[in-house]
Amino acid sequence: MLNDRLDLLTDYPFQRLADLLGGAPGPDTIIMSIGEPQHAAPPMVARIIAEQAHLWGKYPPAAGTPDFRAATAVWLTRRFDLPAGLIEADKAILPVAGTREALYLIAQTVVGSGKKRPVVLLPNPFYQVYVGAAIMAGAEPIFVPGADGPASQPDFSTLPDDILDRVALAYLCSPGNPQGSVADADLLERTVRLARRHDFVLAVDECYSEIWDQAPPPGALAACARLGEGLANVLVFHSLSKRSSVPGLRSGFVAGDPTVMAAFGRVRSYGGAAIPLPILAAATALWQDEAHVEENRRLYRAKLDIAEHLLGGRFGFTRPPGGFFLWLDVGDGEAAALRLWREANIRVLPGRYLSRDGVGDRYIRVALVHDLDTTERALTRLAQVL
Ligand SMILES: Cc1ncc(COP(=O)(O)O)c(C=O)c1O
Repeated sequence: MLNDRLDLLTDYPFQRLADLLGGAPGPDTIIMSIGEPQHAAPPMVARIIAEQAHLWGKYPPAAGTPDFRAATAVWLTRRFDLPAGLIEADKAILPVAGTREALYLIAQTVVGSGKKRPVVLLPNPFYQVYVGAAIMAGAEPIFVPGADGPASQPDFSTLPDDILDRVALAYLCSPGNPQGSVADADLLERTVRLARRHDFVLAVDECYSEIWDQAPPPGALAACARLGEGLANVLVFHSLSKRSSVPGLRSGFVAGDPTVMAAFGRVRSYGGAAIPLPILAAATALWQDEAHVEENRRLYRAKLDIAEHLLGGRFGFTRPPGGFFLWLDVGDGEAAALRLWREANIRVLPGRYLSRDGVGDRYIRVALVHDLDTTERALTRLAQVL
């Protein structure tokens, strides 16, 4: 009765965590397992949604509004220093209800019968949605560990040609969840060239690109600009969930190769949620404002300072260049998560649930999403218990 591909999906990481820990979080539990930003949402969100309330009576167009597409094209061009005209807003950008659904639906758009035994390449460790997307699309997922160890980015160009010729889709995540590493400009260019040579779609998940410590991470569209050939074979995924601390708004966008975007738009018109017009109006204003993003970064940096002070020199601690997770080498991630739960009332995620082939087994992922005091309290307890 059910789709037998479901048998190939392992349980979602948070289900596995619930099974490991048992018991529900209580009022004093500090939840650091979920990357759900808890900084205050910018006040403009509630204001604009209230002002646009008359639009709840309208079905929104699947392609969003011209204002939204223009604002995101301007933002991409400024943020990644792209040549004017590289992004044609009406052909190369679509709003999505958070990037999770988009990262899932892109596999359903791209994987088909065009390639024999299609492959989807994924980083290892990885954001779990990539795996589900690959499996439900009928592709073989191939997990590629970081080129320089578990905290680094994968280099797909090291794979043999017989695999690369079968690739329909490759996911890169920069800055990476969970490890926060950044794909540098060379790696991005190499991977874009590879996608073009082997004719696959490169989906670059850049939803942590605005949460950075020392320097803004480079983006895949800038690699396209340097290489020429427009945006061929490349898509980027951006979200307001992390940038603007509004995970509940469910708002992001996809931009890239107009041919792939047209196909993605067709799939979304059947199976994707159109974004309500009041939400698109708020999202448009958020992409036009950088002040709240700078404040967000300031708060994350302050939390990294606390983490460095309390954990520096232990657990292989390094300041992640991007994102808001600590990826700590604790020897046995599941055992450490269990101890932290039982002895410190803190929930963290074992790296095993975000990886395959043992790559993340020694690690825990700790989300620094709370206020400074809560973060300090939690990391102090963590340092005492482990
Ligand atoms: C790497 C990565 N990509 C995408 C997402 C999806 O975010 P959203 O659907 O809120 O845009 C997340 C959320 O945690 C993530 O960690």
